[in-house]
Amino acid sequence: MAQGAAGCAGVPGVKVLLTESDIHNRVQELGRRIDADYHGQPLTIVGVLTGSLVFLADLTRQLSTAHRIGVLQASSYRGATTVAGSLEVSLDLAPDLQGRHVLLLDDILDTGQTIATLVEQVRCRGALSVRTVVLLRKLGRQTVPFEPDYFGFEIPDVFVVGYGLDYNDEFRHLPYLAALDGHEIAEAFGGQGSGFGVQGSGFRSQPLNPEPRTLTPDP
Ligand code: XMP
Repeated sequence: MAQGAAGCAGVPGVKVLLTESDIHNRVQELGRRIDADYHGQPLTIVGVLTGSLVFLADLTRQLSTAHRIGVLQASSYRGATTVAGSLEVSLDLAPDLQGRHVLLLDDILDTGQTIATLVEQVRCRGALSVRTVVLLRKLGRQTVPFEPDYFGFEIPDVFVVGYGLDYNDEFRHLPYLAALDGHEIAEAFGGQGSGFGVQGSGFRSQPLNPEPRTLTPDP
């Protein structure tokens, strides 16, 4: 994991929170757990455009369980702002989910509004079951009660970019996850002013569900 407050070489205005290898290792781990849980089941992974594209591409290649891939659209951040607006959702691009176990995949769980709304909409499409995986979970932001089935990392309340996440459609291509300058890490996480105080900061990955679970259709 990246240390300290050093900026990213060649990319002014962002600071690394998770390196490429932090993310790679964690995505591998998520893949192993998802394989164990879904082995032999008719699985469709549905990514939420656009922020989850990089995570989707990496996770799908870690799975040995045969699966289909689909996407749907949701957006609440538009333009040059880090403040969420109203949520817009479209399932127009989503594949047929009838008779499939669906793993809904998003980049980040912030307030929880997006993923909670999407789970309900996907259920209405006749899925056998709906579970969720998010790469990131922002602490102290959730307003809609929701527990993802799998998540990669808990992060402090900062606006993050890279690895598919954007600011005004920029930075998605960065192979690491970074915070934009000017967004201080909460004191509660041990941040040091403009630094990121990652070590001992509560910025951590969580143990995954300890045991594989048997899949049963939703009631
Ligand atoms: P909610 O609040 O519905 O938000 O859980 C989820 C969606 O909000 C976007 N989001 C971010 N995008 N950096 C981003 O690039 C961030 O720090 C951030 N926080 C939330 C994201 O699209 C996610 O799907």
